[in-house]
Amino acid sequence: MNRPSPRENFQAGPTAEDLDALWMPFTHNRYFRKHPRTVVQGEGMYYTSADGRRILDGLSGLWCSNAGHRHPRIVEAVKQQLDVLDYAPPFQTNHDKAFELAGELTRTVGRGFEQVFFANSGSEAVDTALKIALAYHKARGEGGRFRFIGRAKGYHGVGFGGISVGGMVANRKAFASALLPGVDHLPHTHDLAHMAFSRGQPTWGAHLADELEKIVQLHDASTIAAVIVEPMQGSAGVIVPPVGYLERLREICTRHGILLIFDEVITGFGRMGGLFAHDVLSVVPDIITFAKGITSGVIPLGGALVQKHIHEACMTGPEHLVEFFHGYTYSGHPLACAAGLAALAVYRDEGLLERARALAPVLEDAIHSLRDAPHVIDIRNYGMAAAIELAPRPGAPTVRAMEVFHHCFDHGALVRYTSDIIAIGPALIATESQLAELVSRVDTALRQVA
Ligand SMILES: Cc1ncc(COP(=O)(O)O)c(C=O)c1O
Repeated sequence: MNRPSPRENFQAGPTAEDLDALWMPFTHNRYFRKHPRTVVQGEGMYYTSADGRRILDGLSGLWCSNAGHRHPRIVEAVKQQLDVLDYAPPFQTNHDKAFELAGELTRTVGRGFEQVFFANSGSEAVDTALKIALAYHKARGEGGRFRFIGRAKGYHGVGFGGISVGGMVANRKAFASALLPGVDHLPHTHDLAHMAFSRGQPTWGAHLADELEKIVQLHDASTIAAVIVEPMQGSAGVIVPPVGYLERLREICTRHGILLIFDEVITGFGRMGGLFAHDVLSVVPDIITFAKGITSGVIPLGGALVQKHIHEACMTGPEHLVEFFHGYTYSGHPLACAAGLAALAVYRDEGLLERARALAPVLEDAIHSLRDAPHVIDIRNYGMAAAIELAPRPGAPTVRAMEVFHHCFDHGALVRYTSDIIAIGPALIATESQLAELVSRVDTALRQVA
């Protein structure tokens, strides 16, 4: 308050001081302040950059704007909601839209997922799911089940629960002293020697699920609450599950009374060509976490969907007492629920899941055309997600992928890079020519970087 504003007018965009004031998440902040790349507008498949260029969004924002930007029906629903109810407390009372979305979502998902607990993000959804798993076992008299099993390269957000079960080394090591106790990890399934350039699910790797059996033998099943995996690992760079792998995890979990949690924060709402990955891969978990696409990224919303028997088991004790000591001020915020209801209607009425299924082979063919482009050591894809893995530049890992990202942005396409991997996840409204344009921009960038 006591610093004078260096702005002459408030339309002028951020000043250097403004850039300095924001500590950006998962960003090289000092570099970014010197080379800012920002957007000011979004519509459909495109952003407009601060310097007025159209940028083809090849990542649905951050894997979330699955119906494209500013979809008119979602925007209208949020505006209408704002005219009626801005906020209502979700503890001990609630508002109609939260129930409507819960009903609509559980009916749409089906397969025994009869209850949903709302949170605001994927990270909160994951913490919620882990707590539900503990509460479920305790309620059934199996409170000794406290262990969680995640997977190497897994990303489950940034809460302490999420980084504990997550398998991203950089996200864990800085906070190693505060990780949850009793967490083990399955090996990841990424092995270029056996699966480079796979289209869809790799045929090698199902046996890696048997590592779960070894972990169970080590600790005894009676100490293990849940296994949590992304059915397709998104943030680690689109690591597609090998044929038969998830089925084996499911079978081992069922045999030992261990809950299976699918973290579908990226894979939900059309990314895999169905509502959730479990629909297209035919393996049904006990709990699903979701976020991102539920509102097409318009308003933050996340949550955990649970099988009926899990909810039932947790409904214990005298009726006037709280059953589950967990929740957020903004669990099921009215604007988020309005956006969620509208987004579900858009996915259904515009046939976007079917569209994703139809576009998947087009994206697959386009992305695999980069096989002989410079630096490429792997290409993989499933549904509307794909990744191109690059050989790291000697002595400077990740820099090559960063340069590809910058080149693409500067030449009109947004992709994502993570270590030496370029990830792509266009909105489900993309046209075939936009997919071709996106891949061509990546191709050009690959030929430009050293
Ligand atoms: C599988 C998965 N889980 C959890 C998260 C965390 O979501 P959020 O950033 O909304 O907390 C992400 C984010 O990308 C994710 O991909």
